[in-house]
Amino acid sequence: MEEELLKIKQEINEAIEKIENKKDLGDVKVAFLGKAGKLTAVLKGMRDVPSEDRPRIGALVNEVRSLVEEKISQKEEEFNQQELAEKLKCEKVDITMPSVGTKKGALHPVTSMTDRLVDICVNLGFSVIEGPEIESDYYNFEAVNTPKSHPARDMQDSFYFSDNILLRTQTTAVQARAMEMLKPPFKIVVPGKTYRNDSDATHSPMFNQLEGLVVDENVSMADLKIMLSVMMKRLFGQDTLIRFRPSYFPFTEPSIEVDVSCPQCHGQGCKLCKNSGYLELLGAGVVNPKVLDFNGIDSKKYKGFAFGFGIDRASMLFTGNTDMRSLFKNDIRFLKQSR
Ligand code: DAH
Repeated sequence: MEEELLKIKQEINEAIEKIENKKDLGDVKVAFLGKAGKLTAVLKGMRDVPSEDRPRIGALVNEVRSLVEEKISQKEEEFNQQELAEKLKCEKVDITMPSVGTKKGALHPVTSMTDRLVDICVNLGFSVIEGPEIESDYYNFEAVNTPKSHPARDMQDSFYFSDNILLRTQTTAVQARAMEMLKPPFKIVVPGKTYRNDSDATHSPMFNQLEGLVVDENVSMADLKIMLSVMMKRLFGQDTLIRFRPSYFPFTEPSIEVDVSCPQCHGQGCKLCKNSGYLELLGAGVVNPKVLDFNGIDSKKYKGFAFGFGIDRASMLFTGNTDMRSLFKNDIRFLKQSR
């Protein structure tokens, strides 16, 4: 028995040497440790060993068994490591390779125009506020000197939900909210969406405005003109020419419309400006004292000036695009062009 055990000790070393793959390893495992394996067979003979020899033989059996087990698990571990190394090798990612097809996004032209304008105004000391797009007739018209019977209501074809609720037609609605809410002096701008039942190349039923309102003790038309000149020059470039034309709005007196020299042709005349060299971008004026008083500001003490800027039209100037509706179709080819 002792001899057999010593033989097994030697054989396991030789068998392990010959192993080439996992299958060979499995065979060796069965041949030594399996039910009909060499070691199992020897163990069965233990009962015939005389009792005085048992401790010694028993110790030898244990020694040989742990040796066989150890050798096998060592080999197993070796194979596992090899497999892992191969797997890692073929799954390797080269992080230095250049990437393919990354597409850069960009802000929508209307968003970037809004951001630029707001930045310019904040630099000039304005605060930014917002108001609701679903508005009451009161704020949209009534509180800015446009009562129900007023002919100026015909200037804007409105979307009504009910007699008193509509989609705001102008950010001017927020002027009334601001006067109600703020104590003069104040300077605010209001960027936001507005809605009118109008759709052609230069009108979209949803469009964006930037409203401005300044209320203080000694402000005049002169301040308004300077403020708008500075804003337009910062927006379109220092060589931009600005033209003021008399106009009419119920909430301002006097009222003006403001044209800016066409940034595409610099006033020479082109398709974009319909050969006029100028584009109308703003309505503005000195706040009608009636509007101040109506909204709780003493018109004897305070004056104001206001303006409403057409954001979409301005962003068309930057993109050189002649159909306003294309701004809102979300055609990816158009958006890519205007990046
Ligand atoms: N709310 C006018 C419109 O949508 C634009 C406007 C004109 C706004 C004069 C003003 C202003 O604040 O003073 O046509």
